[in-house]
Amino acid sequence: MASRIPAITLHNGGKMPSVGLGTFQGHDDEMRQVLNAALECGYRHIDTATVYKNEAEIGDVLHEWLSSGRVAREELFVVTKLPMTGNRSGDVGRCLQDSLDKLRLSYVDLYLIHSPVGMKANSKGVLDLETNHEEIYKAMEEQVDAGKAKAIGLSNFNSKQIERILKVCRIKPANLQVEVHVYHQQKALRELCRAFDIPVCAYCPLGAPHAAEGSDEYPILLQHPVVTSMAKRLGRTPAQVLLRFLIQNNLVVIPKSTNQKRVKENFNVFDFELSSEDVASLETLDRKGDGRVIDFKSLFEGIENHPEWPFGIPY
Ligand SMILES: NC(=O)c1ccc[n+]([C@@H]2O[C@H](COP(=O)([O-])OP(=O)(O)OC[C@H]3O[C@@H](n4cnc5c(N)ncnc54)[C@H](OP(=O)(O)O)[C@@H]3O)[C@@H](O)[C@H]2O)c1
Repeated sequence: MASRIPAITLHNGGKMPSVGLGTFQGHDDEMRQVLNAALECGYRHIDTATVYKNEAEIGDVLHEWLSSGRVAREELFVVTKLPMTGNRSGDVGRCLQDSLDKLRLSYVDLYLIHSPVGMKANSKGVLDLETNHEEIYKAMEEQVDAGKAKAIGLSNFNSKQIERILKVCRIKPANLQVEVHVYHQQKALRELCRAFDIPVCAYCPLGAPHAAEGSDEYPILLQHPVVTSMAKRLGRTPAQVLLRFLIQNNLVVIPKSTNQKRVKENFNVFDFELSSEDVASLETLDRKGDGRVIDFKSLFEGIENHPEWPFGIPY
């Protein structure tokens, strides 16, 4: 059963479906059930990472679908990410092989450097101040040569870091995965990526309500009156409006849900369109840097002291 949803074509010819399943915080049987439900309704793009600690569950489900012939490997688009504790050229091959073993796959469709910041191996947040992007990226390219990653890319890199990679790379980054949603639209970074022909994948496309702190002026994005009234008028849900806005901006989106009804809802965003007036009114909600929800500083104490901390410049 091939998925019929639109996809972005990467420079290697790979097709990255415009909606993927985010899996951060999905674990055990809940993860298995949600992935089964997502595959049933047509998802073919799955976004995971070593640090999500769910590659094995995802691997179990994919193995069942592949071995029973319900899906062909070429129909799937599986993304995983090099952990910060593996941000050294000598660790890249081992980290990817470990992910492949858990995913029970011989290759991933896209392997991303999860963060420009490096941590000491097996540490809980001890910064590795020697992080060398050029060397790590060379090791990423070797994974493409070895057939273990069809494409490679970056996540959470800023404009300057992307430009440095572009100066030395042999295989261009196929994708940039960063936080993008209506409150944090990342117009300048997206413009830079457009100029270099690097498609962007929006993480936290719903504004990560589990992590957001709403205020009277800026409620949780899914509850913003502009979003909820637009959804009501269009006979859609607020989540569908937020996802549709990003898709119409040529972004790939990876909403996460552990609720099967919402998983389905987040996938059904291809049978309507926002008018240019609706797009313009959502554009006015951009809070630029203030709209960022994911606070890496609270997750990793002192991370902003790393020489490759990406969020010290506007984009
Ligand atoms: N590269 C990176 O550094 C990075 C960082 C963060 C995230 N990511 C990736 O991006 C994915 C998405 O980001 P995210 O999970 O942080 O945020 P998100 O997708 O913006 O929001 C997920 C939250 O929204 C709720 N939700 C989902 N669908 C909904 C709907 N239709 N209506 C109402 N609520 C809904 C979910 O709750 P329920 O589960 O209860 O539905 C969950 O709490 C992650 O899972 C991960 O794969 C990558």
